[in-house]
Order: sequence, then structure tokens, then C-alpha cells
Amino acid sequence: MDTVSEEEIDLWLPLRPPPPNESPSSSDDEEIIQEIVKEVLAIQGEQFTQDVHYSWEIVGEGRFGVCKKVIVTTNRDPVTVCIKTAKYSQGVNEIPVLQRAKERNITQIVGLHVGKLIGRKAVICMEYMPGGTLKEYVKEGRRLSEETCTAFGKDLFLAVKFLHEEVGVIHGDIHASNVLLDEHRTYVKLADLGSAQAIQEDRPRCFDDIWQIGCVLLFMLNGATSLLFYENDPDEEKRMEAVNPEEHFPPSRSASREVLKLLNLNFGVGRKQLPSAAEILRDATIFNQK
Ligand SMILES: Nc1ncnc2c1ncn2[C@@H]1O[C@H](COP(=O)(O)OP(=O)(O)O)[C@@H](O)[C@H]1O
Ligand SMILES: [Mg+2]
Repeated sequence: MDTVSEEEIDLWLPLRPPPPNESPSSSDDEEIIQEIVKEVLAIQGEQFTQDVHYSWEIVGEGRFGVCKKVIVTTNRDPVTVCIKTAKYSQGVNEIPVLQRAKERNITQIVGLHVGKLIGRKAVICMEYMPGGTLKEYVKEGRRLSEETCTAFGKDLFLAVKFLHEEVGVIHGDIHASNVLLDEHRTYVKLADLGSAQAIQEDRPRCFDDIWQIGCVLLFMLNGATSLLFYENDPDEEKRMEAVNPEEHFPPSRSASREVLKLLNLNFGVGRKQLPSAAEILRDATIFNQK
């Protein structure tokens, strides 16, 4: 790793803008994987080449990065992690937010092992989520049960409540490909904090996240992307005017009153503003049933 410079990053907010020069790095991915694996497993240099074997495959390629599933075999049990290599400008904000979630033990956000800025790349080693993305899960042809939608929805509101209230950022890119499932598909975690932005006092865009979670709820309930997902007017009120429950929500004969109440609340039907994540968690009866 002597060809690349490592920058000690400040793991505390406020978030920083990227440096001006974002030319591609010459860092070798293979070297990066080894370096990160050593750090995660606390393996010394010599021991690495003798006792450690690893294999990897690409599990996701988004707009800004590549995610690899890496299986590491040592004389202990094999360890599986996910290593994302992204542009500096993405990771510079993603790493500190994931670090905060880790410190506060927020289980609704994907768990960080190690995050580093290496050369002009951001490298994020995180827990591997074997259940894949919510997008893939729903695509397999299922509309999810109300019970599952409620459980997954609650996970997302808890994640976003933490981001808004404790970190002071909006996620900015919530959709079904950034929601990951556990092996048994019983809970979800919010991933891809690459678009996180500090909440500006004068322009709080928390409603973007709330709106997008609403669209994820509709995606799970209807089994298809909601047209409301494409409504992204920066004016909150204009966006809310576009909501027509008859057209956008599941028909009342197939949805429970509690779920329709949640959707009405989420999309601010009959309200002046979209509620906060905390208000939704408090007021949606479906989240508070025993
Ligand atoms: N921790 C993880 N476990 C399993 N798959 C993941 C994990 N993180 C990301 N992925 C996969 O990689 C894709 C891209 O990752 P993401 O963080 O969303 O990057 P991008 O900014 O490029 O969209 C995801 O949609 C998902 O398919
Ligand atoms: Mg993504």
C-alpha cells in the first residue's frame, strides 16, 4: 500500500465537500481488499499470506461505486463482509454517518466495520446483508404482506429518525435498491448513505426522506414502483397536492384501515406539512399495536 496516501478522516460531522480534483485513483482494488481485511480481522502481515484466503464477487454496481461480497477464510470460521469502493465525494459523507450509527448501535442502518479514504477512493467495509435488496425481493413477484410492510416500514422510519434528529443529515436517496434484507427477510437496514447531506436550517429537506419512505411502502404494498416516486417538486406543498389516495394507495377492500391511516399520515393527506419520522412512529397506530 505504499503507492497510495491514506488520509486520516475526521469521523465527526459537519460533512465536508469533496476536494476539487477527483481524478481516478491508481490504487489496486486487490490491495485495498487485503488491507481492509487485515484491519477488520486484526491480522498481522506475515500471517496474512500464509493463513488467510479470500474470494470475492461483485454484488452491486451503482452510480458511484462497486460493492463486493468478500469471504475470508482463516483458521477460524469464515467471515463474510461487503466492501464498497466509491468515489471520494460519496464516501466522504457516507463514512462518518455510518460511523455515528455504529457508535449509537443503530441496527436499522447497515453496520460499518471500517471506513477509509484511500487516495481518491472511499472504501467502506460493512456487514454483508445476505437477503439482497428490497427491490430484488419484491421483483420476485410478491406483494409483501401488511405485516411485513409494517415491520420494514418501521425499520426505515427508525433509521431516518436517527439520521434527522441525532446526526442532522438527510439520507437523500431512499429507494428499494438501498434497502437491504437479512438472511431470513425479517427485517431491513437502510444503506447507501452516499447522498447524505447536512440539514440546512433554512432549507430542511427532511420531507424528501419521508416522501421516499412512503414510496417504498407503496412499492411493497402494490408490488410496483409508485408514480408518486417521480413527484419530486422541491416545494413540499406542491408535492403533497399530487397525492390522490384513490389512485395511489391500495384499494380499501384489500388494505386494512391501519395501513391506509399510515399512508395518509405519511403523505400528509389533510395536513399542511409532511410529518417527521418521530411523529409517524408516534401517531401511526399500526406501529403501536401490541
Ligand atoms: N452491505 C451490503 N450487503 C449486500 N449487498 C450490498 C451491501 N451494500 C450494497 N450492496 C449491493 O450493492 C448495491 C450498490 O450499493 P450502494 O451502497 O447502494 O452503492 P451506490 O451508491 O453505487 O448505489 C446495492 O444496491 C446492493 O445491491
Ligand atoms: Mg445505491
